[in-house]
Amino acid sequence: MTEAGTGAGGAKFAPRVFSGIQPSGDLHLGNYLGALKRFAETQDAGVESIYCMVDLHAITVWQDPAELRHATRELAAGFIASGLDPDKSILFNQSQVAEHTQMAWVFNCVARMGWMKRMTQFKDKAGKNAEQASLGLFGYPALMAADILVYHATHVPVGEDQKQHLELTQEIARKFNHDYGVEFFPVTEPVIEGTATRVMNLRDGTKKMSKSDPSDMSRINLTDDADTIAKKIRKAKTDPEPLPLDADGLAERPEARNLVNIYAALADMSLDQVMAEAGGQSFSVFKPRLADLAVDRIAPISAEMGRLMEDPDEIDRTLSAGAARARAIAAPILRRTYDILGMVGAGA
Ligand code: AMP
Ligand code: TRP
Repeated sequence: MTEAGTGAGGAKFAPRVFSGIQPSGDLHLGNYLGALKRFAETQDAGVESIYCMVDLHAITVWQDPAELRHATRELAAGFIASGLDPDKSILFNQSQVAEHTQMAWVFNCVARMGWMKRMTQFKDKAGKNAEQASLGLFGYPALMAADILVYHATHVPVGEDQKQHLELTQEIARKFNHDYGVEFFPVTEPVIEGTATRVMNLRDGTKKMSKSDPSDMSRINLTDDADTIAKKIRKAKTDPEPLPLDADGLAERPEARNLVNIYAALADMSLDQVMAEAGGQSFSVFKPRLADLAVDRIAPISAEMGRLMEDPDEIDRTLSAGAARARAIAAPILRRTYDILGMVGAGA
């Protein structure tokens, strides 16, 4: 991570990290390795970090209210169990900080229809039936840009699937700065790093591990117990060959590559280090090692999530306290934005 973000004309912004996850179902290994684990590392490196359960994004597709409430608390528990400390980082749910939606309206007026129409996540989620998709699903990336820019966040750690949305966020910041002749919003950098920016499906190495896959065997959930984790790895699809001798040999072998990537990310090793150790091994040797490692890393998180979920009131208190701290940063930035736009009453 560079030491500061750069605005349109080179203005410097203090480093600040923001990221969000939708509370829309079970957290899985992809979320952990691609997001939560890295968030905890960023926090521990001492960068001011803001992490948000984006409940308003979740409702762009129908959510059962009781399930949304449960999923929001469980996501918060997942953050904390993965090492996010609510005293060091700011943890909150999006709907408690109205400045996100207020800023999103401004960005609805900055972003262009053509930009939004190019978003592949919208096309994937809306499918053939785009006329029936909610207006919120179409506007989703403008709310996401608001999440980030209402804090002047300079860095956003995400999985690879969010790259296009981050590029749109940069476009919105640039256009706002340009249209109003200011250097107000930073051009935020996506942080897409590590061996696990794309953890793949355990039953099909060409598809992303996802909560929406109908097969539970396709993913490891953060709520799985040790036996389930081990079983899913034992049954993960592989080809009949042993592991190749080096990382190049993984190129055409998506399932093998995925398991090696997962091992590397869980063990905090590079791909080359894993291959130096495990190259040439058969899966009957490598899988039990991976299973042990996964159980060792994931089972304590699942146990801690279970413990935290026994006291939902405490989780709610944590989220409210986080929201108050978030609002203290967002409110003045929104006021300044309104002032730039010419809204009466917004001046300092
Ligand atoms: P989602 O579950 O799609 O809301 O994603 C939450 C976070 O986890 C985002 O930062 C995603 O980029 C990341 N993520 C989701 N699925 C994966 C995956 N299979 N591999 C790596 N990161 C992922
Ligand atoms: N769109 C992200 C996802 O689906 C979630 C998200 C919403 C987000 N707002 C964000 C991620 C701001 C990073 C920053 O994973």
